Amino acid sequence: MTIKQIYNLAVELGKKADPRSSKRLKEILRIEAKRFNSLSNAEKDFFDKETLINPYSDSRYYTKNPNKKIKKIMVGIDITGSEILLADRLNQIQKNKIDLVIAHHPVGNAFAALDNVMHLQTDLLANLGIPVNIAESLLEKRIKRVSRDISAVNHYQTVDAARLLNIPLMCIHTPADNMVYQFLKNKIKSGKPEIIADIIKILKTIPEYKEASIRGAGPTIFVGNSYRRCGKIVFSEITGGTSGAKEMYEHLARAGVGTIISMHMGEEYRKEAEKNHINVVIAGHMSSDSLGLNLILDTLAAKKIDIIPCSGFIRVDRNKNIR
Ligand SMILES: [Fe+2]
Ligand SMILES: [Fe+2]
Repeated sequence: MTIKQIYNLAVELGKKADPRSSKRLKEILRIEAKRFNSLSNAEKDFFDKETLINPYSDSRYYTKNPNKKIKKIMVGIDITGSEILLADRLNQIQKNKIDLVIAHHPVGNAFAALDNVMHLQTDLLANLGIPVNIAESLLEKRIKRVSRDISAVNHYQTVDAARLLNIPLMCIHTPADNMVYQFLKNKIKSGKPEIIADIIKILKTIPEYKEASIRGAGPTIFVGNSYRRCGKIVFSEITGGTSGAKEMYEHLARAGVGTIISMHMGEEYRKEAEKNHINVVIAGHMSSDSLGLNLILDTLAAKKIDIIPCSGFIRVDRNKNIR
């Protein structure tokens, strides 16, 4: 497979697993096209044309040769200059060279545009019964805040390191998180948990969470306790860029939500959930991000592409588990 084909595959899998309908995704691309067409020629030069075909602004690749065939990929949750140097070092001592490095958390212009994917959360909240006007209003403020916060970041630090060492780089963020969203939703719902302890038990049957438990970062309860009943379980904090608006818990409680399963949660958010009597189960950050990447990478592994895990990435090959 080439770099471009790997990227396209990730985007397609992400679209299939998206919490939004395919009709809504098409609508989003149509709106982008309209926006592009309304620009002057001078303005068009600054428009990221990738947004016309890929609804995930936080997933991109950086190489001069997207048609390069890939045999070996180093994959990590966070890729920094250190991991790029590590790939280069490994290439000096290994016969089969690493052709591509994949990060989960966005780098380059994908990082600068992370706030754009957060609109996914508006649809997510609306689907859970929060009126869309309230969801939009809550998210708009938060998205603007995230946009301001990331504006000062050195977005191209990793990209520049990879460019200097001639190592192609890619980041797959929301498509992978969408995979986690669908996977966990199916797994937990089919397990029919009654109390919080049942959710933890189900999570720990998933290899990534089992390994994370050994590593000291297994699934935990942030609000509630093992014996509390789950009520309506939602997966509102698995995908959609980064944490949404902390004011949402009040509305989620009113929409009948009993338990939130999240990848991670800041203390301010936890307090708000607690105040609104919502149980919170934290599945785990690196483990959940690993799960999402694995569900995409299994297609590559089936095509005999070698995967070298690094930077907190727990590699589980489900092709091997099935056999
Ligand atoms: Fe993630
Ligand atoms: Fe993450």
